[in-house]
Amino acid sequence: MDKVLARGSGSTTARSRPRTAVVSILAGGAAVAATIAVATSASAGTTLGTSAAEQGRYFGTAVAVNKLSDATYVGILNREFNMVTAENEMKWDATEPSQNQFNYSSSDRLVAHAQANGMRVRGHALAWHQQQPGWTQGLSGTALRNAMVNHITQVATHFKGKIHSWDVVNEAFDDGNGGRRDSNLQRTGNDWIEVAFRTARAADPGAKLCYNDYNTDNWTWAKTQGVYNMVKDFKARGVPIDCVGFQSHFNSGSPYPGNYRTTLQNFADLGVDVQITELDIEGSGSTQATTYGNVVKDCLAVARCNGITVWGIRDSDSWRASGTPLLFDGNGNKKAAYTSTLNALNAGGTTPPTTTPPTTTPPTTTPPTTAPPTTAPPTTAPPTTPPPAGACTATLSTNQWQGGFVTNVRVTAGGSPLNGWSVSLTLPSGSAVTNAWSAQSSGTNGLVTFRNVDYNRQVPAGGTTEFGFQGTGTAPSGTVSCTAG
Ligand code: XIL
Repeated sequence: MDKVLARGSGSTTARSRPRTAVVSILAGGAAVAATIAVATSASAGTTLGTSAAEQGRYFGTAVAVNKLSDATYVGILNREFNMVTAENEMKWDATEPSQNQFNYSSSDRLVAHAQANGMRVRGHALAWHQQQPGWTQGLSGTALRNAMVNHITQVATHFKGKIHSWDVVNEAFDDGNGGRRDSNLQRTGNDWIEVAFRTARAADPGAKLCYNDYNTDNWTWAKTQGVYNMVKDFKARGVPIDCVGFQSHFNSGSPYPGNYRTTLQNFADLGVDVQITELDIEGSGSTQATTYGNVVKDCLAVARCNGITVWGIRDSDSWRASGTPLLFDGNGNKKAAYTSTLNALNAGGTTPPTTTPPTTTPPTTTPPTTAPPTTAPPTTAPPTTPPPAGACTATLSTNQWQGGFVTNVRVTAGGSPLNGWSVSLTLPSGSAVTNAWSAQSSGTNGLVTFRNVDYNRQVPAGGTTEFGFQGTGTAPSGTVSCTAG
């Protein structure tokens, strides 16, 4: 047993000896150890979801909505998981089968199931070169770009307030060279990814916005570096990205890398959350169990690793069923991989989790459904709000495509703090603002003014805040005025 475990561990990871040894022991005593741990430890969670929650994380699964009538499937889903991803039902071909005709029947069913059972939802995926409807194949250039913007706007608006994190763009990088993958979306212009993110932010400011990909787990791979550089660039330029998803479909051709934790940490250090979004690990027995445990430990070791989602429940539910890559066997029984996963979750991490909301947008608050009570005016004087202070400047960064644009505006306070601000600019004739985020806009043509909203009213001296808007026609350029107060 020990020899088998040692060999299994060695072939799947290049980690340090002490760590491998611990994992091997856990995996070796899998079934018994789990029973004892659960029975004797008051603080240890007994399901994946509760254990992850104790670490400030979620544990999710992909769900195929047509399996919600399978009692075994639903039983495991409701017992173990507190996050769901639609395996196929929120993809472009499912949600917009004909142009501008949206179908949410299956995806709404999943969201309703999640909400009824206290689970959250990852949205997957707004823009992807695969599983597009047929009609997009006949489009290119501006027509396809506008179709993408419309798709993202409509779908993200439909689910607004219900999505924890969106995979805004999926699999946009080439496997070999670290550059972009050729696709119809890529051919609309290299800025398609940032336009997708800005559009998603405008539609649902409360959702975390993720870039999601596979073969980005190994820090030394060119593709990992390509995605890393894009995220770094987005953060530097204020493109609204909050998280990076690592699909982590592991098998012999794309094995779990010993530097996985390094990869997660390096991305997190860019100022984004990291999430393991489609985990499956082909194999069986203790080798597979050890790798699952290692993946969990890596996530828990990175403060900004929010959670883990496995890509299906039972092996028989997997898109790669022959590789038996999941945590439950075809009969719904817990595998050794389940036990090592649960044990790793219960063992906890080395750093506390952080919860970081999107950085540039306000939280979505549900408006009160009842009228506010009419209360007598306060008898004491209201707090005196400080007078408007300081000057400000505003700079624009724009993504223009034929027929439309998205502009991001950075407001910078001068030597004194701001308590309110407004930015005015003149649109070229024929252009119009269609929506704005993180600011209240007045006017759609000609002279347009954007005023702070509540959460970004105050800006410390020298500090910045950002808002954005989307429009048709040509983006504004040139003079922008920023006024304090
Ligand atoms: C897969 C689904 O699991 C299958 O049911 C479907 O036939 C094809 O897509 N990367 C992704 C997922 O982002 O959407 C894919 O899901 C798996 C690879």
